Amino acid sequence: MLFVNFLRPILRNPKILMQMRRISVRSNGFSTAVKRGRTLVLRQSLTGLFLLGSFLASAVEGSAAGRAGNEDLQRWLNTEKHIAVERLMRNISPKDGARGAVIASPSRSNPDYYFHWVRDAALTMDAVITLYQTAARPSLKSTYLQGLFDYAEFSRSNQVASTLTGLGEPKFYVDGAPFDGPWGRPQNDGPALRAIVLTRFANLLLEQGQTDYVRRALYDSAIPSGSVIKADLEFVSHHWRNASFDLWEEVMGDHFFTRMTQRKALIEGAKLARRLGDIGAADWYLRQAYLIQGEMEKFWRPDAGILIATTHYRGGLDYKTSNLDVAVMLGVMHGYAGDGFLSYSDPRVLSTLDRLNQVFARLYPINQRSESLGVAIGRYPEDLYGGTHFNAGNPWVLATLAAAEVSFRAAEEFENIGKRSSAVRLREQGDAFLARVKYHANPDGSLSEQMDRHSGYMTSAHDLTWNYAAFISALHARGNLK
Ligand code: NOJ
Ligand code: NOJ
Repeated sequence: MLFVNFLRPILRNPKILMQMRRISVRSNGFSTAVKRGRTLVLRQSLTGLFLLGSFLASAVEGSAAGRAGNEDLQRWLNTEKHIAVERLMRNISPKDGARGAVIASPSRSNPDYYFHWVRDAALTMDAVITLYQTAARPSLKSTYLQGLFDYAEFSRSNQVASTLTGLGEPKFYVDGAPFDGPWGRPQNDGPALRAIVLTRFANLLLEQGQTDYVRRALYDSAIPSGSVIKADLEFVSHHWRNASFDLWEEVMGDHFFTRMTQRKALIEGAKLARRLGDIGAADWYLRQAYLIQGEMEKFWRPDAGILIATTHYRGGLDYKTSNLDVAVMLGVMHGYAGDGFLSYSDPRVLSTLDRLNQVFARLYPINQRSESLGVAIGRYPEDLYGGTHFNAGNPWVLATLAAAEVSFRAAEEFENIGKRSSAVRLREQGDAFLARVKYHANPDGSLSEQMDRHSGYMTSAHDLTWNYAAFISALHARGNLK
């Protein structure tokens, strides 16, 4: 481990790497010579046993190396878990902000991510619920719970603030004031994601008998609603057809990610509404969810074998010609409603993942260096956003973690129907993606938004909150958080 850490800066240095590649080309020549020697031995028919023996020896060696690799990964995952939790929690309720605000990153310049993004915050608090549910220590549990109450209250204050685009407003200052500079707005995944996480929170509170709080602050059955979930569900159910900016804040149109999260918000929201006796609303939300589902067919491109990111392009960046995007993986992760529609192991989802894998393997130089690590995945192939510049996009930590998580969840679905070999392959694939993130993580375990496509070093916003949430979520999917 220490040894590897010591080597890491050397291995990332492009000049040294070139040098090493030359050496390895030479040593390949050497092994060819050895192979020729072996052929001679065989021809002289001394014995085929020699070959069999060396084959077995190298197989044993290989699996021992595999095992050591797994142990190494497992060890890193254990340490990284504590780092991720600690650094994620640091980004909730910052000292100079309102309670319940979640900063996207502590970075205040190059790039400035010191804001509460509705999307990032919801995905973060979703991980906090997972932590709450899997924590053993009561003191930890109450810290997580307090964070959730604060987030619910802050979210309601965001809803009633007067913003440029209403509930689709994507980001707020940490004191709760809406950001009113030029931006890609509205982003209609926000209210859907907020409703999903708060509905999960409401269900948890209902199990604990906190019905009064839920009916007052989270879901009040009133129209217009004074409660955060109901207000979001009304917005989603009446406006899901509207075009909005995508999760990358770049393209105006209809997006797979946004639609999947809207569908899930309405399905989960309908269940909550029914549980609380708001029956008419429950039926209405569910009907809208089915209508969204009908629209989802438009995202499948059988000729290309992929689910595309956007239909009905209406503006914004115009160079995303492939329409291949890791947003589809994220859409399944955060929008799958557990009802069989576009689940993780759906062949369309897995063939999109394969395509992402192939395309990014070719695109980024760091992916050409090691075959034992999984492919570092970016947002989409044409991406130019490097955090501070716009000349070349990089692979992203949260995108690579998404590829890992989808692999684990698909494996689980295959296990449930007895498809063992597909499951094994996908679990290995998931671990390879995690090993990729491990390799490029900072030595102190912190994770920035991106990995430089040439050097592999962490770059762009440091300590991206969403990364830590994505890591916790991937770990949960792997079966490491019980
Ligand atoms: C900042 C956004 O957050 C990022 O996703 C985008 O690529 C750039 N702005 C350009 O719109
Ligand atoms: C840029 C990403 O594209 C967007 O999805 C995210 O919300 C912001 N950064 C903040 O992390």
